[in-house]
Amino acid sequence: MSLRTSPSPASPRAGGPASVDYVESVSPGDGALPPRAWYAASNAPSLSLNGRWRLRVSATADAEDDAFAAQGYDAAHWPEVTVPGHWVLQGEGAFGSPVYTNHLYPFPVDPPRVPTENPTGDHLRVFDLPEGWPDVSEGGCVLRFDGVESCARVWLNGEDIGEFKGSRLPHEFAVGHLLRRSGNVLAVRVHQWSAGSYLEDQDQWWLPGIFRDVTLLHRPAGSVLDFFVHAAYDHVTGEGSLRVDSDVEGRVTVPDLDIDVATGQTVTAPVQPWTAETPTLYDGELVTEGERVPLRIGFRTVELADGLIKVNGRPILFKGVNRHEWHPETGRALDLETMREDVLLMKRHNVNSVRTSHYPPHPAFLDLCDEYGLWVIDECDLETHGFVEQDWRDNPVDDDRWTPALLDRAARMVERDKNHPSVVVWSLGNEAGTGRGLTAMAQWIRARDPARLVHYEGDVNCRDTDVYSRMYASHEEVERTGQGLDGGPLGRRRLPFILCEYAHAMGNGPGGLADYQRIFEAHDRLQGAFVWEWIDHGIRHPQLGYAYGGDFGEELHDGNFVCDGLVFPDRTPSPGLVEFKKVIEPVALDASDDGTVRVTNKQDFAGLSALAFTWAFQVDGETVGSGSLTVPPLAAGASAEVPLPEPPVDAPAGVETGWTVQAVLAEDTAWARAGHVVAWGQLALASPMLASPAQGAAPVVGERLVTLGPASFDVRTGELRTLGPVAVTGLRLDVWRATTDNDDGAPWQSDVRHGLLWRKLGLHRMRHRLDAVEVGDDALTVRTRVAPAGWEVGLSTAYRWTSDGDRVRLTVSVTPEGDWTVPLPRLGVRFGLSEADRVTWFGGGPGEAYPDSKAASALGRWQSTVDALQTPYVRPQENGARADVRWAELGGLRIEGDPAFWFTARRWTTEQLDAAAHRTDLVPGETVWVNLDHGQHGLGSQSCGPGPLPPYVLTASPAQFSFVFTPTG
Ligand code: GAL
Repeated sequence: MSLRTSPSPASPRAGGPASVDYVESVSPGDGALPPRAWYAASNAPSLSLNGRWRLRVSATADAEDDAFAAQGYDAAHWPEVTVPGHWVLQGEGAFGSPVYTNHLYPFPVDPPRVPTENPTGDHLRVFDLPEGWPDVSEGGCVLRFDGVESCARVWLNGEDIGEFKGSRLPHEFAVGHLLRRSGNVLAVRVHQWSAGSYLEDQDQWWLPGIFRDVTLLHRPAGSVLDFFVHAAYDHVTGEGSLRVDSDVEGRVTVPDLDIDVATGQTVTAPVQPWTAETPTLYDGELVTEGERVPLRIGFRTVELADGLIKVNGRPILFKGVNRHEWHPETGRALDLETMREDVLLMKRHNVNSVRTSHYPPHPAFLDLCDEYGLWVIDECDLETHGFVEQDWRDNPVDDDRWTPALLDRAARMVERDKNHPSVVVWSLGNEAGTGRGLTAMAQWIRARDPARLVHYEGDVNCRDTDVYSRMYASHEEVERTGQGLDGGPLGRRRLPFILCEYAHAMGNGPGGLADYQRIFEAHDRLQGAFVWEWIDHGIRHPQLGYAYGGDFGEELHDGNFVCDGLVFPDRTPSPGLVEFKKVIEPVALDASDDGTVRVTNKQDFAGLSALAFTWAFQVDGETVGSGSLTVPPLAAGASAEVPLPEPPVDAPAGVETGWTVQAVLAEDTAWARAGHVVAWGQLALASPMLASPAQGAAPVVGERLVTLGPASFDVRTGELRTLGPVAVTGLRLDVWRATTDNDDGAPWQSDVRHGLLWRKLGLHRMRHRLDAVEVGDDALTVRTRVAPAGWEVGLSTAYRWTSDGDRVRLTVSVTPEGDWTVPLPRLGVRFGLSEADRVTWFGGGPGEAYPDSKAASALGRWQSTVDALQTPYVRPQENGARADVRWAELGGLRIEGDPAFWFTARRWTTEQLDAAAHRTDLVPGETVWVNLDHGQHGLGSQSCGPGPLPPYVLTASPAQFSFVFTPTG
């Protein structure tokens, strides 16, 4: 059964002034052809109408009449824009600006009415049919729009051919009877706001325009209409079965399988199944009387069995991301290379699945998912989140008048995307409450495509869905759910569980990924999760670096909540993605006690034959030997103990040694080259060397300075002045960090929001009271009390300096005083160096790490410049710490930690970092500010989800830590 909600071919309407009633009509549109399967190319000619179009933007929907659509209209004075594109991202503001809101509608909520101020873009393009274009009387022609936001009315050669809504869905119109050989005038009037906007309240920029392709397709007589490829896999027999249902009869051929069969007939053959890990596609063809359409067939069977999502008989574990379509210059208009870059980046970072939040993506993206191998939850273009503000009253999804529009959206998604093996689950939409319209969508989808599952997170009782889905649930809740202790209706308790969103990747974070993954892997019912989200939606901006909400003067906006991705707007991986890659590795390489490494194949289907294994032996962080490691073949889920070779060198006593084991691609693949690191593990052999005691020398009191070994101090304040030839400024205890988005938390969080509490308490304005400078026989001790104005809490802090003549050792002792009810952002010392650029360290790297985001921090000897230590979060905030640092060298100093420490260095102060709103606010100063931290508070993901777990909370408690400084110059 297929749904035909739209009347078939357009009946041109009579002339006269265009009415704009359709803009506020709940109807999905008028005049479009029924939805059908999308395919990129066939042997039938097609003409891309992408390119430069004339544009006129009016302030209201009815400001201009439709005279522009008539042939002969002179639009030569109109500016040009690029289609696909959003007009607000072109013309440097001349055509209006983007607007960002999370869930609030940026207009008064009075469905289906929209504001009188309704930016309307009249688009015009004149085109000729190419040489050799067939006679249109032999068949017909179809004009296809792949995406227009939010509502469009279309004229061809002066004839009104229809109007439509459903921004991220295709619409086709029969136009053969209107076409001429040359001088065709295509006019498209696009309204930013329409009744459809009420159904498209996704958390993203509102960006009007024709943002996906416009194509003219010749439809020869007897050409393909709609077709449905049913390709299943029987994991017991190893056979694939294929049946292609087609509205127009024809034959289906798959040469590699010797298949040549009539449409509608089922045929079986032994095949390699399609999975995200092994995306085998068979090339085939659907041949009708008038057309040959290439097919890429993946055999796989999706089912809900034993309470689990199974593919080809085995449960799968989603290691996924939520992907919005985004490009920092073109918004949601993405070219193929950008889509491919997303897929390549995902594959290279071990991501195995994508939820197409919150709308069907450009169809070419799904071709890429089929080809490279990603499980897809394809989500319908539906969100009505803003109605939550009125307790979901008047919610369109629970109002029968809107149901045709909802069904139209469901049908346009399913019909377009049904032939993709990568699509395993249909999602009804996002955050739309509950209602009869959603139930109708689910029923229609199940009837049309019983071979996939249905998802919708908002359906907490799972009346309409096959999967219990939550977003931002705490670790504890997920664990309880895994154990089946979540209660809820019986039907739900029998369903598998996923987190369709978790680990809010806004700014620095998310923390807690490894802890989630451990829980997912411990319980069968938990079938994985999707990080929110893939990419920061920052808009490239000449003055600000990247713009976010509010930067265009929006009346209502949600700031940088739109920048919460694992990759920066330019797709540079953030530390969060590097951490995610490590946490979701398909192979675990764990240290065993007896000097062997335990190798576990954590994939759901594939063996290890694509991988090669290597070992490296490190002394003091430096690799001194390496080789290959023989790992036996391991089926999915299996593991083995693999012995390591004898250490290649005898390391001197007291020096730290260890192994690094890697799983790398044995050969080039479609998505990465041979040698690409897929997984790794480290095994410590000898434990960390302790820093030198550095004692014995006596302080010498001079007129203005106290000297102690290579160090000098202010005699009055005890402040460190020099270390050998190196001038040092402002060394003192530091507890403040520029709060991260996750520290600040989301305004609606009922939970503790540490960033706010810290500021309330004044941890960003601590005062340092000098209590004593004590010169002893072998030490200089400076006693202080560090505390914020207004409160009784404080940190009694002693700095004790000793030296052996060549180096100095600083021991900091901190005792909290008063009633500390909040954790500390950080605990350590900071100081300024006048000259520092290159940094070398032995510790965690190469990238930044924080207590609950540290899995990807590899122990080794690393080098960087100070500038390259910074992580350029779109909204500047705490970043760049390196974990577990044993020693670091910069600016003519060697610093050893006892114990290991967190290292940070930057060309601005924490206060400047804290005050910056955009990257361009950060201007390097003369001084390099270094933080050596004994402790850092965790990250969590409280910008939308839970805060750091208890082990990562930096409580204010007595602490003592030391650093040994040696001038190296
Ligand atoms: C979810 C929503 C997403 C996004 C996220 C926060 O509730 O589904 O679209 O808004 O929160 O970034």
